[in-house]
Amino acid sequence: MSENPWWRDAVIYQVYLRSFADGNGDGMGDIAGIRSRLGYLRDLGVDAIWINPWYRSPQADAGYDVADYREIDPLFGTLEGAERLIEEAHGHGIKVIPDLVPNHTSDQHAWFREALAGGPGGVARERYVFRPGRGPDGDEPPNNWESVFGGRAWTRTTNPDGTPGEWYLHLFAPEQPDLNWAHPEVRAEFESILRFWFDRGVDGFRIDVAHGLIKDEELPDLVAPRGSGYRYPAGTHPHWDRDEVLEVYAGWRKVADSYPGERKFVAEAWTDSADRLARYVRAGALHTAFNFEFLQSPWRAAELRSVIDATLGNLGAVGAPATWVLSNHDVTRHPSRYGRPPTTWRPNEGYQRTGTPDLVLGTRRARAAALLMLALPGGAYVYQGEELGLPEVEDLPDSVLQDPTFVRSGGADRGRDGARVPIPWSGDAPPYGFSPDGASPWLPQPPTWASLSVAAETGDPDSMLELYRSALRLRRSHPALGDGTLTWSDAGPDVLSFTRDPGFACVLNLSDSPVELPPHQETLLTSAPLSGGRLPPDTAAWLRV
Ligand code: GLC
Repeated sequence: MSENPWWRDAVIYQVYLRSFADGNGDGMGDIAGIRSRLGYLRDLGVDAIWINPWYRSPQADAGYDVADYREIDPLFGTLEGAERLIEEAHGHGIKVIPDLVPNHTSDQHAWFREALAGGPGGVARERYVFRPGRGPDGDEPPNNWESVFGGRAWTRTTNPDGTPGEWYLHLFAPEQPDLNWAHPEVRAEFESILRFWFDRGVDGFRIDVAHGLIKDEELPDLVAPRGSGYRYPAGTHPHWDRDEVLEVYAGWRKVADSYPGERKFVAEAWTDSADRLARYVRAGALHTAFNFEFLQSPWRAAELRSVIDATLGNLGAVGAPATWVLSNHDVTRHPSRYGRPPTTWRPNEGYQRTGTPDLVLGTRRARAAALLMLALPGGAYVYQGEELGLPEVEDLPDSVLQDPTFVRSGGADRGRDGARVPIPWSGDAPPYGFSPDGASPWLPQPPTWASLSVAAETGDPDSMLELYRSALRLRRSHPALGDGTLTWSDAGPDVLSFTRDPGFACVLNLSDSPVELPPHQETLLTSAPLSGGRLPPDTAAWLRV
């Protein structure tokens, strides 16, 4: 392994496939669309793209319900198209990271169909988690586990003879039965799937629900309902972040390391702390993991600093690089989060989108947050549209919502569709160049997005897009940025200020009034104009010192 592998400080752009670019005019983003926009990504200055699931899928959860891991869904293109994309992206110097979904399959996967058809007691059921129900007629679920999307985590099956049958576990939607990772065939199959895609040139994988694979075999009841705030002692939750899951990844790491180049994994692991997260990226385990503590931090200096310190401390201790994430397809876009009073929140845990966000404020903070994120040691993720400053679309009508969360929560949680609206490329009206003219995007775009399109923002020095382009350009050329360490400077309780060697400083003002900048030779970039040489509130600056 090289001393400075690319993944230690890569900027990885998340392509939410359904909403990035529509090549064939059906209103749905696709592989042809990505291929036509590779020049945009190269010019933006990203090192890699992570593409949300492209496999054959009934799309009960936007592709996270996979029916065949070795086929591309016809909605998105063909296997040959995927191979061409990988090759063309590499031609532009962009690495490609697909999304792997190992916790569950689709209920239309051949294994699950076989399991249902085989009836109770059949060996095909052992690849999933089937159990008889409780109560005299077996009509109560085997335990009290809840689906992340709302409702219970068990669905009762009907036997081949039509009588009520066993129940199966699904931590997400009923169309997403959980696999049994104690089964050797499940383990072997996923290593084979990894090889299938590594053989086609992919540079790594994003691992979906990486903290969920292993369940307590006794399937005990949960002691407190979700959202109660109760935290299990580390490693003891019956189905999240159990220690044994690391055995699976040790095997995957060996597969990745058997390929030339630096193939990498990034874990989607929601853990309770940075030290639990560090276990996923220790030696011999995965390479990187999303830093959701950073994403969940309120916009306040003390909390941000403590997340940054915990991240660098815990990951540094195991030799892993940090990653920094502000948004993704599962969370409310950050200009909208930051446009509300600062709160700590977790998705699916009672975060309410109350009132109307102040998007002028939220956008100002998002600009500052981008400069903070891109100045910190390690790698960063940019969720498509974040570089355009897109807010959450909070007024989608009920009739267009597709996220299973909406229905399963009885409408209490409006779900994640507002972060997934197709992005605007050009023009004055929907589809803003997302689809060829005439096609309606799968989620409607707001009539107000003309000024947020790639074409509108290009060349406008005050736009979010040009801020990201400048920051990414500087980050590439500046020897202090990327992997490494930082040193905090004391700038008062509401200001984050740090230096990086050689000769770089980042200052972020989270107070209510302008502050003096530290002594410096040159202002490299600011997220908003200085006022009389001072740094205004909710503004960040990059300095040569
Ligand atoms: C992950 C994905 C999310 C999906 C879920 C179930 O959290 O990011 O979009 O719904 O897993 O696969």
